Amino acid sequence: MSEVVIVANAEVAGHYASDCIIDLVKAKPDSVLGLATGSTPQPVYRELSRRQHDVDFSRMRAFALDEYIGLPTDHPESYRAVLNREVVQPLGLNPGSVKVPNGRASDSSHAGADYEREIHAAGGIDLQILGIGTDGHIGFNEPSSSFASLTRVKTLTPQTRADNARFFDSADDVPMHCVTQGIGTILRARHLILLAFGSAKAEALAAAVEGPLTASMPASAIQMHPHVTVFVDEEAAASLANADYYRWVFDNRPEWQTF
Ligand code: GLP
Repeated sequence: MSEVVIVANAEVAGHYASDCIIDLVKAKPDSVLGLATGSTPQPVYRELSRRQHDVDFSRMRAFALDEYIGLPTDHPESYRAVLNREVVQPLGLNPGSVKVPNGRASDSSHAGADYEREIHAAGGIDLQILGIGTDGHIGFNEPSSSFASLTRVKTLTPQTRADNARFFDSADDVPMHCVTQGIGTILRARHLILLAFGSAKAEALAAAVEGPLTASMPASAIQMHPHVTVFVDEEAAASLANADYYRWVFDNRPEWQTF
């Protein structure tokens, strides 16, 4: 089962997730992170930036979870640009140490296989940060994505395009296609941290953590992973049937236990 930690707000989640990352990098300076984009991971990246002097990030490497297809590379909402802004620059990383799937339309047929090779060559992902879409997607693995899928091109659902329209001038500007790590790729990471904040995520989060395993709810695949930590605020936790048990578990954690 996933460890579900219900926190007061996103900042507390950002603090806990940063602890995990900092502990990992202290133990293994060339750790490989998996980086989500969107609004959800921002408190984690802000907290890492605030604590960047607690640890040497210079050897850390990272892989983005996904990228839009067809945006110019300098477009501010390409995930390359977002990660440069939110992670690479604040932490003073070498931009070459953070890989992003190739979103150039002309190369998309082999972008997935190329990216899988790069992840493999880096020794795999140690810790993957995940958000969750309102339709239950992780990365951009929309409902019906195979649990065995690897990095590949996907078509965004109208719901995801509408959800992400806030980042663009108009809904029509949201790309239709993307390259995303597959669910199988995500499940190979050694530790998954899934974050969810706000009431819009409550139904998907409950289905992911407590519902049946189904490709119709891509995030339910995390139930098959041996090391998952879910940090969720009260609003996103509102539909969890076992919320009281998760609180009980957290309040009675053995002192030696880490996330
Ligand atoms: C986005 C990203 C996902 C993200 C999810 C939730 O479109 N591709 O990686 O986790 O959808 O987004 P947000 O955190 O902005 O709610």
